Amino acid sequence: PGEHELVVVANRLPVDSRTLPDGATEWVTSPGGLVTAMESVMRTVDSGAWVGWAGSPGEAPAPFEADGMSLYPVPLDQIDVERYYEGYSNGTLWPLYHDVIVDPEFHRGWWDTYLSANRRFAEVAAPVAAPGGTIWVHDYQLQLVPRLIRDRRSDVRIGFFNHIPFPPVELFSQLPKRNSILRGLLGADLVGFQRESDSLNFLSAVRKLLGLHVDGMTISVPGIGAAPVREVVVQTFPISIDSAAVSALTEDPGIRERATQLRRDLGDPQRIVLGADRLDYTKGIRHRLKAWGELLDDGSIDPHDTVMIQIATPSRERVEAYQQLRDEVELTVGRINGEHAPLGRPAVSYQHHSFDRREMTALFMAADVVLVTALRDGMNLVAKEYIASRPDLQGVLVLSEFAGAADELRAAVLVNPHDIDELKAAILRSLAMPPEEQEEAMRSLRHQVMEHDVQLWAKEFLERLTATGSPQVAAV
Ligand code: G6P
Repeated sequence: PGEHELVVVANRLPVDSRTLPDGATEWVTSPGGLVTAMESVMRTVDSGAWVGWAGSPGEAPAPFEADGMSLYPVPLDQIDVERYYEGYSNGTLWPLYHDVIVDPEFHRGWWDTYLSANRRFAEVAAPVAAPGGTIWVHDYQLQLVPRLIRDRRSDVRIGFFNHIPFPPVELFSQLPKRNSILRGLLGADLVGFQRESDSLNFLSAVRKLLGLHVDGMTISVPGIGAAPVREVVVQTFPISIDSAAVSALTEDPGIRERATQLRRDLGDPQRIVLGADRLDYTKGIRHRLKAWGELLDDGSIDPHDTVMIQIATPSRERVEAYQQLRDEVELTVGRINGEHAPLGRPAVSYQHHSFDRREMTALFMAADVVLVTALRDGMNLVAKEYIASRPDLQGVLVLSEFAGAADELRAAVLVNPHDIDELKAAILRSLAMPPEEQEEAMRSLRHQVMEHDVQLWAKEFLERLTATGSPQVAAV
C-alpha cells in the first residue's frame, strides 16, 4: 500500500504536458469543468494524490509533485488515444450520455481498449492509496475503474462521481457492454451524480438491466462466497467552483483594469454579450449564433452598440463531430460578421483558443449578459463562474434548462435553447433588464453559488463515502 489518504483518479491530470519546439516540456492547465472543480479541492488536501493522463500519447513522465499534491501520470499510447479516449469515451459514451445530440458510434474494437486503459488507471491508482484510504474515481472515461480497484484493494473506500449526465435507461440500453459498465460502477461504495434525474436514471438502469434490488437510493449487490451483500449508495451532489477565490479575483487591480481595457478594445460598445465554452456540440453554440444572427437580421440588435464575444476553447480536435462543428460555427460567424459588422469591429468576436483564469474573470466582469445555451450539460461551471465574478450584483445570466446548473440557479433567465424565438426574446429581455432587477436576481444567484462551493461539495461527498458500510469484495 502507498501513503496517500485520498487518491483522485481522472482521465486527465490537472496539468497537460506540451513539448515545446526546443524539446523542453511545458505544463498547462487541462481543459474542462472536472479539473476546474477538483484542482481547488485537492489544493486544500494533505497527502493527496492525483492519477491521470498527461494529455499526449507516449510514455508517461515519472510521478512528480505540483501544488502540494503528488501526480501519478498514466501512459496512453496512440491506439489508446484513438480507441479509448477519442473512440469509446468521446465517440460513444459522450454523445450517448448527452441525449444523442449527435449519433453515438458503436465500434467493437473500441471496447477492448476502453477496458485495457481502465485497467491501467486502476493498476496505477491501487498501490498509491494508504491502508484504509479513499480512492475517488471521476467521470465517464473511467466507469470500469471502481470495480477494477476493488478487485485489487479490499481495504479502501471507493467513490465514483460522474461529471456528465447519466442517460435515461431507454438510451443507456443502446450501449453494447452496458451491463459491464454498470458492474464497473457498482465496484464503488458511493456513486454520485450531478442531478437528481441522473441518479434516478442510474438506479432504474441497475434495476431493469441487472435485476438488482434497490431500496430508495441504496442498491444491494451480492457478495462473494460467505461475504454478505454489499450496499452501494447513490446520491446527488451538484458540483460547484471555488466561489470565494473567483470572487476575490475581481478585487485584483490588474484584472479590473483589464475588464475596462477589454471594453475599450471592442470600441466601447454599450453592451457586451458573452458565450464561453469548450467547442462542443453539447453547448448549443450553433443555436446561440442562430438567435444572434436573426436578432441582427431583423434589426432588434444594433451591432454599433452591442457586441457578442464567443470564446470557443479547442476541444477533441481529432474527433469528426468536433471538426464539423468547428466548420459550421466558423462559417456562421463569418457570415454574421460579413453581413453585420461595422467597419473595423466585429459583430461577433470569435476566439478559438483558451483563456486563463484572470482573463476569464475580466471578461465576466465586462459582460452585461452571459449566454449558457447547452443542449445538455452535466452542470456547467461557466454559469457559476459568471455569478461569482459579479459581486457588484450586475449582469444577467441566460441559462439553458438542460444544464444541471438550472436546478439550483432558478433566478437566471431560463430558456429552452431549441426554441430559437424564445432564446431571442430571452436575450432581448436580458439586454433591457433594469439595474434593480439585475441586482435582485444576481443577489439570489450569488447566495446560492457563494454558499454552495466546491469545498462543501467535496466535503459532503467524502463524508457520505466515509459513512458507507465497510468495504468488501464484489461479485455482481
Ligand atoms: C468535461 C468532462 C471532463 C473532461 C473535460 C475536457 O468537463 O466532464 O471529463 O476532461 O470535459 O474534455 P477533454 O476530452 O479535453 O478531457
